Amino acid sequence: DWNMEDVLEEQIKHVRSMVGPDEHVICGLSGGVDSTVAAMLVHKAIGDRLHCLFVDNGLLRQAFIFMEERERVMSSFQNELHLPVTCIDASENFLGKLKGVKDPERKRKIIGEEFIRVFEGFAPKVGEEVGRCPSFLVQGTLYPDVIESCPPPGSGRNHSHTIKSHHNVGGLPERMNLKLIEPLKLLFKDEVRQLGKFLNVPESFLKRHPFPGPGLAVRVLGDVTEGNALNILREVDEIFIQAIKDAGLYDLIWQAFAVFLPVRTVGVQGDQRTHANAVVLRAITSEDGMTADWYYFDHKFLIDVVSKICNQVRGVNRVCQDITSKPPATVEWE
Ligand code: XMP
Repeated sequence: DWNMEDVLEEQIKHVRSMVGPDEHVICGLSGGVDSTVAAMLVHKAIGDRLHCLFVDNGLLRQAFIFMEERERVMSSFQNELHLPVTCIDASENFLGKLKGVKDPERKRKIIGEEFIRVFEGFAPKVGEEVGRCPSFLVQGTLYPDVIESCPPPGSGRNHSHTIKSHHNVGGLPERMNLKLIEPLKLLFKDEVRQLGKFLNVPESFLKRHPFPGPGLAVRVLGDVTEGNALNILREVDEIFIQAIKDAGLYDLIWQAFAVFLPVRTVGVQGDQRTHANAVVLRAITSEDGMTADWYYFDHKFLIDVVSKICNQVRGVNRVCQDITSKPPATVEWE
């Protein structure tokens, strides 16, 4: 049980000792807890020599797709966090590379590598502006990401026991030009949230459910670029999350989301036969993401949300709920 004020001070010192007085640093912001807290910490350490980047990888939730919403997010980075941010649309690069790819680990590796390429492309642009090319990259990697991607040496485990390559750990390319700064690498999520409080990160950021770096790519099973899968998933997910918020359940749940199955089932609407996709709703409670229980919704909530989804989302005629804990399942389906 560490004191987060001490951790903060220690990490600030550590960042200052790594980054020379004229050196610059870049950081990818996702709008989530980890990258926000990591960026705020580094900003406190080196000020405006930190340059943040928001990457649209084409795998974001509905909330980020609409321009107004994105502008709201960008202005909240600037107004609430005082972090200057550049927004880059790299969705064609990511989706192009993912076309036809079905294997979950390959998807993760492709996304991890593509993020690094986007950051490596951003660094020289910052360099032109400030006169020196940034050579560091901040990542909001947490302890559980490290454990699940590559078990620590001496733990008696080896890489064949990797559970998943988190995009920002096991998914990183072998060759990269940026040195990593990972100030949260030894912390669990609840500790990061405490640290965020000391850094004056608004509650609206700290309470956000975790969202995986590979985004919806690990929630559309199989080829993410197939048909209209991403858009269907976005609509279903948005209805589910909104219902959770409306019912006042958001803060009781560790994480909730929908999954798109590349499976079509027979249904009936009016007197018409349909042959449409099945989706899954998953909501869990957890302390740290390492183990999890499924969340028990009452009947009324489920009935309403399922009818909304089937009535409003074209292409979906069946809704399932995932009632598996971790273990034996993982949180994400891929
Ligand atoms: P799993 O599926 O491994 O998920 O049980 C545990 C927690 O980690 C999140 N997750 C990720 N986060 N990059 C991330 O930043 C990733 O590659 C990644 N994979 C899973 C997941 O959403 C859950 O909160």
